Amino acid sequence: MKTTRNKITVVGAGQVGSTVAQLCAYHNLGDVVLVDIVEGVPQGKALDLQESGCLQAFDSLIVGTNDYKDTADSDIVVITAGLPRKPGQSREDLLTINAKIVKSVTEDIMKHSRNPIIILVSNPLDAMVYLAKKVSNLPKTRIIGMAGVLDSARLRTFVSLELDCSLVDVDAMVLGGHGDSMVPLPRYTTVSGIPITELMNQEQIDRLLDRTRKGGAEIVSLLKNGSAFLAPGASVIKMIEAIVHDKRRILPCTAYLEGEYGWNGIFFGVPVKMGINGMEKIIELKLTDEETAALNKSAEEVKKTCSEVDALLKKLSS
Ligand code: LAC
Repeated sequence: MKTTRNKITVVGAGQVGSTVAQLCAYHNLGDVVLVDIVEGVPQGKALDLQESGCLQAFDSLIVGTNDYKDTADSDIVVITAGLPRKPGQSREDLLTINAKIVKSVTEDIMKHSRNPIIILVSNPLDAMVYLAKKVSNLPKTRIIGMAGVLDSARLRTFVSLELDCSLVDVDAMVLGGHGDSMVPLPRYTTVSGIPITELMNQEQIDRLLDRTRKGGAEIVSLLKNGSAFLAPGASVIKMIEAIVHDKRRILPCTAYLEGEYGWNGIFFGVPVKMGINGMEKIIELKLTDEETAALNKSAEEVKKTCSEVDALLKKLSS
């Protein structure tokens, strides 16, 4: 059946993909196509989700498939395909294997959708979104990585637990690469507008920032088999909502830099304005020397993984 609702394709029917599909339906964001190479799993999960529609009061159609033809003319595509980390692994350890997967799914998506907005989730995130841009040739407004919303949500959570205050009053800003060198910014992390630098001592702040940087690994080491999926899924939904409802939200996202923050040709976590056209604008913050140095260190690391992607793409095409 064809509807005029937004068509949202989710690539990868694993934990993150299923969570994204579920939340898209629960929030009435559009019809959902869940695609995976494993036969039966996307179909089974899609049917299960569809059967919850009358209980959750959503009208979205949910399709599970192994065939990219079913993804034709998607408005938004979320790529979650790839292996998750095992305990002790860094996100970068996944580069070679996930690069091949992300390359092939991006090609398959672009065969059937002319101008989708793609949101990347697969790790190592900054390198995978860089690769997907190269393969898809989409404009930088239409290809974005999900990392900052998640990393900031983790910091917001830790701040509210530390201060024993409501989560809804806490805002946070985490920039840079989605790895150990990410840059949480205490000056831009606030409780009802009050910077946390006014509410906590340095030891408390350092402890929360450190836990944020290691937030993904903390979950990996607890789960032992897989990585976080509930907060990552909810983070993707914030981005999709901003697009579908043209909210023009200011969210930290992984965007393609062309001179902003002094860097060119890499994907990097920065505050952006998200609306109906995707990543509509990058916001440049005035940073202190110390913050700039931390951001540059993170950008150096991201640049290194992007060069690895370039080398890999060259090898794969030769
Ligand atoms: C994390 C993964 C999604 O940070 O990168 O949990």
